[in-house]
Amino acid sequence: MDILVVGSGGREHAICWALAKSKRQPKLFCAPGNAGIAQLAECVDIKAEDIPGLVKWCKDHKPGLVVIGPEVPLCMGLADELVQEGFQVFGPSKAGAQLEGSKDFTKKLLLDNHIPTAKAATFTDYEKAVAYVRSQGVPIVVKADGLAAGKGVTVCEAIGQAELALEDAMKKKIFGEAGSKVVIEEFLQGEEASILAFVDGETILPMISAQDHKRVFDGDKGPNTGGMGAYSPAPVVTEAINVEIQEKILKPTVGALKRMGIIYRGVLYAGLMITPDGPKVIEYNCRFGDPETQVVLPRLKTDFVNICMAVAQGKLSHLKVEWDERPTACVVMASQGYPGSYPKGKVIQGLEKASAHADSYVFHAGTSLREGKTVTSGGRVLCVTGWGKTIQGALNHAYQAVGDIHFEGAQFRKDIGWRALAARQ
Ligand code: AMP
Ligand code: GLY
Repeated sequence: MDILVVGSGGREHAICWALAKSKRQPKLFCAPGNAGIAQLAECVDIKAEDIPGLVKWCKDHKPGLVVIGPEVPLCMGLADELVQEGFQVFGPSKAGAQLEGSKDFTKKLLLDNHIPTAKAATFTDYEKAVAYVRSQGVPIVVKADGLAAGKGVTVCEAIGQAELALEDAMKKKIFGEAGSKVVIEEFLQGEEASILAFVDGETILPMISAQDHKRVFDGDKGPNTGGMGAYSPAPVVTEAINVEIQEKILKPTVGALKRMGIIYRGVLYAGLMITPDGPKVIEYNCRFGDPETQVVLPRLKTDFVNICMAVAQGKLSHLKVEWDERPTACVVMASQGYPGSYPKGKVIQGLEKASAHADSYVFHAGTSLREGKTVTSGGRVLCVTGWGKTIQGALNHAYQAVGDIHFEGAQFRKDIGWRALAARQ
């Protein structure tokens, strides 16, 4: 069976790695892929946002399954076009992807269906938005409505900061059209956790919990990034909280989508705040998280190809998904300057040594091959995952492999998992 994976990050490397372990022994293709993915899949030189290019490739090569990694092609309607052509697709339709593509859409869906979330209001008028912020006071959260590559949210500690965030989004349009509409919401206190679930339109099979570190520096300081590391499980998600998340959040969300005529097939990723009043939705993503995938999929024991096919065909109720008890943790190695501008083309050394350890794996994110050498080509370069009996053990294995790898200007956090470790003590 041929499978096409769309995307080029650490998430897609983990997806390819999990697919490659399948008993079905699929032949993997990845568009466009990266230097690490190239060891598992044939890389196809088509960008993830090139919808006509990807549809044409599929028509020519007829893969048995297409797994779409990133949100942009999903929000552009890649799944719809491929389903229309008769392909099996893992990833929601354009309508379903609005859960990530429009914060206003999601907020309305949550509030209309009494699903726990922060109180909020939506604005297209700058003056009205400013007046609202002044009436509510701080802390308050300003969010661009549309996709902003993870940079559209500002948690504001001062009125002036909120005004600046509104000006940037609505007047200066630093996120383009994505910021002409903003959602302003109540600041939620608590600890964050991510729950990802396989959804086939009807059946919801939650994955084990995970938590990422969004800030670039140790101590959760500095600007937000795509994620600098993650661990699984997230101790804050107890069994009782997990049940609450299923019953009060995931089930009503999928039910509400269905009533709107949206058959959601793929991963539903709930970004949650575990507050003193219970879990509340901060955001939804319409895809696997990056780097959460790099700690979640390594714990998957069930054949991943079977899961993807069941999701695509609406047959998830026939499956039981099993997980490895052993915790995992991953550390992202990023280019100097990330999440701001960064150099490319730095030679990465030590990959072979790092890959020799049994209890860790090096997922590639922004890498490419140049004259036989693996070089950096993105902000997040590598994501090293470790396994262990405990989160500490998993971290030890991840950091051991990180220690083997060198490239000029490499930066990584030294304190991944600190909340989980503190919770144990
Ligand atoms: P998002 O892109 O929506 O996940 O937001 C990015 C980050 O901003 C989240 O991971 C939270 O740390 C923070 N955040 C977003 N919304 C809220 C909120 N209502 N209360 C507190 N923190 C928030
Ligand atoms: N790690 C956060 C995300 O994938 O959106």
